[in-house]
Amino acid sequence: MDRIKITGGNPMNGEMVISGAKNAALPLMITSLLTDKPLTLGNMPRLADVNTLNRILGNHGVNFSVQGKRKSSDSLFGETVAYDAKDIVDTTAPYEMVSRMRASFWVLAPLLARMGEAKVSLPGGCAIGTRPVDLHLSALKALGAQIELENGYVIAKAPQGGLTGGIIDFPMVSVGATHQALMAATLAKGQTVIKGAACEPEVTDVAECLVKMGAKIEGIGTPNLTIEGVDCLGGAQHNVVADRIETGTFIMSVAMAGGDVFLKGARADTLENAIEVICQTGAQIEVQDEGIRVVKTNSDIQAIDVITMPYPGFPTDLQAQFMALMVKAKGVSRIQETIFENRFMHVQELARLGAKIQLEGDTAIVTGVDSLHGAQVMATDLRASVSLAIAALVAEGETEISRIYHLDRGFENLEEKFRGVGVQIERVSE
Ligand code: UD1
Repeated sequence: MDRIKITGGNPMNGEMVISGAKNAALPLMITSLLTDKPLTLGNMPRLADVNTLNRILGNHGVNFSVQGKRKSSDSLFGETVAYDAKDIVDTTAPYEMVSRMRASFWVLAPLLARMGEAKVSLPGGCAIGTRPVDLHLSALKALGAQIELENGYVIAKAPQGGLTGGIIDFPMVSVGATHQALMAATLAKGQTVIKGAACEPEVTDVAECLVKMGAKIEGIGTPNLTIEGVDCLGGAQHNVVADRIETGTFIMSVAMAGGDVFLKGARADTLENAIEVICQTGAQIEVQDEGIRVVKTNSDIQAIDVITMPYPGFPTDLQAQFMALMVKAKGVSRIQETIFENRFMHVQELARLGAKIQLEGDTAIVTGVDSLHGAQVMATDLRASVSLAIAALVAEGETEISRIYHLDRGFENLEEKFRGVGVQIERVSE
């Protein structure tokens, strides 16, 4: 199993290119199931999760091909991949595949909407809470689907003549359930109204792609979506939105290590709350046409409190990284996690580097320390693993992070990108 070693103490200077968002790329790939025409996705990140989903889609009969040749070092604008779901050969997504990645559960809605039936294993994914799927299922039921649970599988059937439009009223915000509701509604007969929809930029990106494919959606970017179902969707070309979580992670890395870095392709408009918070910690952030410049001088890191919230609030996917930054802050910071109930597994690993963090229910109380020291630590989930890398940037000596397959699931070329701005980092393969 690969490990990465980081030797702390170097500032970050130069340019980092922001990849396409994993959390948009995955549902965009899944929308290809809705049409028998090709969907071409540009700015695709090269990630383990994308490869996993390629295999799952392949199992349903989707052909995909990478367009053009690219050098592996050229991470600008990602890859262009054409997905062609002309013939769906299988409407079952088996346990072995879905258990590896939660987002693959989202194939349920497009298979059901286009083929009238689907059998999909209940999902796996990062162990950051119980993560139920009740909202996904109630949304599909509101469109007329019959749903049964059998031996760990969801078996969904559309009525004769297909799904019909309806009112979906989400009692809480769910990104995954919104993706499913939206995909199903595009092919349902008549009008669907989704209330309480997630407004995350990745949902907006998917909705905009669906519109290019011929879907009729109003209210994009708001909690109220109105969809007029169409008989069929066509092909389209769409570029994946820049990854706001990678962007926030790199901003916090510079805020921690110090330096001056330009994040090329970063979209500040998808990260306003987090940018405001990070500025308050003492980093300077300049929004430019082509990206974001982050400057951090030798001044102290200020302790700031945050509460994770659905978009446009502070993202749960940046909570672990922010905690790593607060570990070196002057003073005490309170970090409250309101989205997932078990998303503090990085706390004990950060403690191995010398962090002082106390947990009280859904809140972590971080007392900043003057120095951290390198240690052996273990990645526990995707975002937690990169928080350890951020702490390692300033730890004295070497930090070795094991189980980095978590990192490879969602960060494209992290070592290359870090090394390019002066971080001493190497991957050790066994
Ligand atoms: C997506 C993101 C993930 C991010 C999360 C929240 C992808 C691939 N993943 O995950 O990175 O952390 O949004 O922004 O895009 N819930 C229910 N019932 C349901 C569904 C969800 O109670 O049927 C709850 C969950 O337990 C959780 C909250 O809703 O407490 C948010 O979950 P959700 O937005 O669905 O997250 P994901 O779509 O899994």
